Amino acid sequence: MAAPVPEPGVWITFEGGDGSGKTTQATLLEQWLRERGRTVVRTREPGGTEVGRLIRDIVLHHRGEVAPRAEALLYAADRAQHLATLVRPALARGEVVVQDRYLDSSVAYQGAGRVLDADQIRDLSLWATEGALPDVTVLLDLEPAAARARLDADDKPFDRLEAEKAEFHERVRAAFLQLAAAEPDRFLVLDASRPAGEIAAAVRARVAALLG
Ligand code: TYD
Repeated sequence: MAAPVPEPGVWITFEGGDGSGKTTQATLLEQWLRERGRTVVRTREPGGTEVGRLIRDIVLHHRGEVAPRAEALLYAADRAQHLATLVRPALARGEVVVQDRYLDSSVAYQGAGRVLDADQIRDLSLWATEGALPDVTVLLDLEPAAARARLDADDKPFDRLEAEKAEFHERVRAAFLQLAAAEPDRFLVLDASRPAGEIAAAVRARVAALLG
């Protein structure tokens, strides 16, 4: 059974489509926590560890086909390594982990391909991480068209998933919202079209309550 990690630290994950502003918000939260004297581990999936960076290169930049089950297992392998070697030790030390993406991304993205079943993907990740779930997951919800406009403005080459069609990103968005509705205690859903400062204040309010 999945359960919050019984560790002294606090674990916050950010989720949302590409271009929803996760990195900006994670950075603002990290700064605020550091100003309050907290030790912060800022990390991400895929690619939060050395093994994870190798896996990230395959899942995001491999040119040939990656079979859906292979892709799901690669994300799960990255996650297993990340939890075991970085996230759990930091939480055990009482630190705050601020993380871009976690298992909800696998359910939303790999499930949106329509080939794999969402529950199976979730169970795979929970097996990989021995059932670890964050204390709070911030979902930055944004219409795919608005997200795409932001990515275009950034002028960076698209990775394999960013290059997917608009319809795929609609399914990803719907899947995230469904996950949030199923676990209202863990999720904080915010409208990512609001000004960054307002979103950051809402995130801080929730995290402040967690820190006590
Ligand atoms: P991200 O790190 O947000 O990209 P960027 O470097 O552009 O900020 O995410 C990389 C991509 O990985 C993103 O398109 C979503 C995808 N992804 C999955 O498909 N499944 C997963 O389990 C995870 C963690 C990410």
